[in-house]
Amino acid sequence: MNTKLVKIDELHMDEAAIAEAGRVLAEGGLVAFPTETVYGLGANGLCAEAAAKIYAAKGRPSDNPLILHITSMEELYPLVSEIPPEAAALAEAFWPGPMTMVFKKTDLVPHGTTGGLDTVAVRMPEHPVARAIIRAAGVPIAAPSANTSGRPSPTKAAHVLEDMDGRIDMIVDGGEVGIGLESTIIDVSEGTATILRPGYITKAMLEQVIGPVAVDKASLGGLSPDVRPKAPGMKYRHYAPKAELTVFRGPVETACRAIEKALAEAEAAGLRAGVICTEESRDRYYAPVKKCAGSRENPETVAHNLYDVLRAFDEEQVDCIYSESFDGYALSGAIMNRLLKAAGQRVVQCGEEKEV
Ligand code: TXA
Ligand code: MG
Repeated sequence: MNTKLVKIDELHMDEAAIAEAGRVLAEGGLVAFPTETVYGLGANGLCAEAAAKIYAAKGRPSDNPLILHITSMEELYPLVSEIPPEAAALAEAFWPGPMTMVFKKTDLVPHGTTGGLDTVAVRMPEHPVARAIIRAAGVPIAAPSANTSGRPSPTKAAHVLEDMDGRIDMIVDGGEVGIGLESTIIDVSEGTATILRPGYITKAMLEQVIGPVAVDKASLGGLSPDVRPKAPGMKYRHYAPKAELTVFRGPVETACRAIEKALAEAEAAGLRAGVICTEESRDRYYAPVKKCAGSRENPETVAHNLYDVLRAFDEEQVDCIYSESFDGYALSGAIMNRLLKAAGQRVVQCGEEKEV
C-alpha cells in the first residue's frame, strides 16, 4: 500500500486535504492525524471491518479496545446508553481536551471497536486538524495512538511514518503535538468515577469538578501480575526502547549521583550507556549518549519530549539506558506511568522517596 503524506497547517487549513482525509475514513480506510495528546490512527469507529484494519496495521491485540473521537456532545448521545451527572460535569469542564471517558455502550458501537467489551471509551479532542477531519468523515473516529503496538506513541508525523509507512492510506502531518502523552482515561460507566490511565488532566483537576475519584491501581505504573488493569491496554509492556532502561528514583541529587556511578561502572565494564537527563543535569554526566527530556522548572517539557527521547534511543547503539525520574510534580502520575512501563519496572530506589 502506498501511504500518502500530506501537510496541513492548522492556521491555514487546506480544505481539499481535509475533505480527502474525511473521504478515506468514510470509505473504510486508515488515516493518521495529529491530536493535542499524540498522533492517532483513525478509522470509521462504527464499522468493525475498518476497525479491524487498525489492529492489523498496529499489530495490536484484538482485546485492546479503541477510543472513539467525536467533536460535539450531540455525537455522544447515540454511542452511550447513559451519561451519569459526573460525566456531564467532566465533559463540560474538560471537553474538548485530553480526557477520555468510558461509558456503557449502545448497540450502534460494534464489539469490533471495543475489544468485545460492553463499554466504550469516548474523547472529544481539541486539536483543530483532528476536529476538521472527524467532521469531514461524518462518523465517530476510532483512533488509538498511531504507533506499532508496544512502541512509544508518536508525537510527530515522522514517528508515524517510521511505524506506519506502507500500512495505512494517509498520514496528515500537522506538526508536533502539544502535550505529548495520551489522554487521561476515566471510567464513568459504574460506581465511583475511576482513573484508568493518568494524563495531562490530573486527579486533582477531576476532583475539583466532581469530588473524590478512585484510581485503578494498574494506572500507577506497576505491572505486577496480580493487578488486572481495567483498561486492557495498560497490561501490555509499552513505550519500550530496544535497550534495557533503568529508572533511578528518589531525591534528585541522590538519584543523579547514583546515575553517575552507574555510568562509570558501565564504562568500566565496556558497555555503551545512554542517559535520560534534564536541562539542569545534562552537563554533569559523562556518558556516550545523552538525551535531555526537558526542564525540571517546566515538567510539561518532559511530558512533551519523553516519547521522542525514548524513540531516539533506538537509533543509538547503546547497551543500556539510565533515566532520572520525575516525581513530585502535578504531571508526575502521567510521566512516571509511561517511564516505568518503558523500563519494564526496572527501578533503582535511591534514598527516601519522601525527601523528593
Ligand atoms: O490521547 C489519547 O487517548 C490517544 C489519542 C489518539 O486520542 N489515543 C490513545 O489510544 O492513547 P490507545 O488506543 O493508544 O489507548 C487507549 C487505551 C487503551 O489502554 C485501552 O485499553 C483503553 O484506552 N480503553 C479503550 N476503551 C476502553 C474501555 N471500554 N474500557 C477500558 N479501557 C478502554
Ligand atoms: Mg497507545
